[in-house]
Amino acid sequence: MDIRISKHGESTVLCDTAIIPFTEGIEISEGLLYLDSDVEAMISYLVKDKIFTGKKEQIESFRLAREENPRNIILVGLGDDQCIDQETVKLAISSAIRKAKQLKSKVIEIHQIFNSCSTSSKEMVSLVAKYTILSDYDFGDYKAPKEDSVDILEVNILVGPDEDMIILEKALDEGVMEGQSICVARALVNEPANIMTPTMLAEEAKKYGKEYGFDVKVMDEADIKALDMQAFLSVGKGSAEPMKLITMKYHGNLNDPEIYGLIGKGLTYDSGGYSIKPTDGMHTMKSDMGGAAAVIGAMIMVASQKLKINVTAVVASCENMISGHAYKPGDIIGSMAGKYIEITNTDAEGRLTLADALTYAVKEEKATKLIDIATLTGAAIVALGEKVIATLSSDDDMFAQFDAASKLASEKIWRLPLEKEYKKMLKSEVADLKNSPGRPAGTITASLFLEEFTSGLPWVHLDIAGPSWTDKASSLCPYGGTGAGVSLLYHFFKKSSY
Ligand code: BES
Ligand code: MN
Ligand code: ZN
Repeated sequence: MDIRISKHGESTVLCDTAIIPFTEGIEISEGLLYLDSDVEAMISYLVKDKIFTGKKEQIESFRLAREENPRNIILVGLGDDQCIDQETVKLAISSAIRKAKQLKSKVIEIHQIFNSCSTSSKEMVSLVAKYTILSDYDFGDYKAPKEDSVDILEVNILVGPDEDMIILEKALDEGVMEGQSICVARALVNEPANIMTPTMLAEEAKKYGKEYGFDVKVMDEADIKALDMQAFLSVGKGSAEPMKLITMKYHGNLNDPEIYGLIGKGLTYDSGGYSIKPTDGMHTMKSDMGGAAAVIGAMIMVASQKLKINVTAVVASCENMISGHAYKPGDIIGSMAGKYIEITNTDAEGRLTLADALTYAVKEEKATKLIDIATLTGAAIVALGEKVIATLSSDDDMFAQFDAASKLASEKIWRLPLEKEYKKMLKSEVADLKNSPGRPAGTITASLFLEEFTSGLPWVHLDIAGPSWTDKASSLCPYGGTGAGVSLLYHFFKKSSY
């Protein structure tokens, strides 16, 4: 899909479908809609007769019996809020694009969203582009295409005659990239585990590194052994698929001593190991690299937008499997940090891979601040469901920065406490720590475990077990990976860069 912007009335693109967003109660005067008078008259009758009022989420479409374009008109309501916010744009664009697909549109123009307050035209262009791309995404790689299906080829976003096109082109690029990098993360998650192995994940990281300008280094088992990453090795050794340590580096501000270590959980499959998962919980476990996918998406964003910031991303990627080589409940394993860990549950594997990845980021890559993102605990789904990212942090300033980014990204986060009183739950009779203390406060105890490996650096942990996957398709996102975390991380880095 190609997305561009043009000024109203100056567009030379012939579209088959016009999407017209409408604020409730707007008066239609002649020429207002930049459409021919017949069509404007038709719309004004729909409004006068209260068939279409512009209420939020209202959609009305009609097809014109004529040769000239546009032949399809889609009216979409924005409601009567004083301010049109990101949520409104998201809903309006996703339902309008769904309608456009039903009408088999190939070339679409999206009319300007007039807004009175906080959202500027440049943000509006970004948002329209982002949500158009997200609504168009489809993971149909393994399904015969529907015979009569039509792809949207071109989208033309129309803006007012007085806009500064240089500024808007930049905003368009940012929105397009945001949409595309979220779709990259979705696609990485949706690819099944028999295809998306650690090897393949590393190849994908390299491919995107080359395309968008970040360095990618991939290490294999021998290097991982040499680094003494015993916790990571213990999880990966039960699988026939070789494990990979993937490092992605984008350093855009060499004068800045700050290096963000960005760690993504990269379990390309989690069977649970000997603490095996029930069948119902296992078939979606290809999604256990959702953190890694978000990290790759975020790297694409920081590099393509050339942020003045230094980020070194680390993914310790492997499978959690059962075999004669696999680690077992009761094992005592080492870690790169030198701490011994008693394995009480092989299904609490993510924190083991993350522990060594965190240590690696600090010791070898000299990270000064840490962020990790992971599909870490079922308990996070119980607590906050599919729409809210469980967030824990050792640093109030970093959390505040994420809270602000959350609004810009339209991804919700909620802070849980790193409750010190629960630290004793991690105590083991036989080792420094145990990996799984049991059900109570599962998201918090997993974070307290990770905190042991952060070297006391400012750190934010994002548990995306809920938001990274959806069983229920919507017009914004089909069944499967959602790309959760990409926008949040990008806006965090954008706010932190200068
Ligand atoms: N990958 C899972 C967490 C998960 C569950 C993600 C469901 C997405 C959907 C993780 O490795 C895991 O199995 N966690 C255990 C930890 C427990 C054994 C302490 C869990 O949450 O049950
Ligand atoms: Mn697990
Ligand atoms: Zn897992």
